[in-house]
Amino acid sequence: MLWIKAFHIFFIVSWFAGLLYLPRLFVYHTDTIDNAGRQRFRTMEKRLFAIMSIGGIGAVVTGLWLLLGWWWPLPEGSHWLGLKLILVAGLLGFHLACWGWLRAFAGDHNQHSARYFRLVNEIPALFLLAIVILAIVKPF
Ligand code: HEM
Repeated sequence: MLWIKAFHIFFIVSWFAGLLYLPRLFVYHTDTIDNAGRQRFRTMEKRLFAIMSIGGIGAVVTGLWLLLGWWWPLPEGSHWLGLKLILVAGLLGFHLACWGWLRAFAGDHNQHSARYFRLVNEIPALFLLAIVILAIVKPF
């Protein structure tokens, strides 16, 4: 199972590379007015989203593998895991929201400002911090 844990972390890092950087691309894309520049951003966003989706699927599959293959039945005092799974569900929601923004940029009908995406850009880092603390410290 240590192999699965290693792959769990590998997929988490790949997923977060996209979750942390895609909204930053949206900031720059919003500020871009020339057509060639906008097209370049659309291509970058599409490719990054494909890679981060593979990371997200891999993180969830290896996470469930660890859970069902190693951590089941749950040891005493593993309430941290429940909260972690709620936060993971929130991250999946954020991933879907990224897909929605990407579709809006692809159709050239994004309505949000660069400032909006700057704020959005902070969200995955907060999730990452909370989930890593829960998974490593296991405070409750
Ligand atoms: C459905 C999704 C997920 C499930 C079911 C899941 C479940 C698990 C389980 C059972 C472990 C082993 C715990 C241990 O050995 O102490 C683990 C380890 C870990 N998980 Fe997840 N996980 C999921 C997604 C994530 C995500 C999205 C992150 C990060 C944002 C994450 C971060 C970690 C870390 C850092 C460890 C290593 C803990 C250690 O070294 O002991 N997991 N996960």
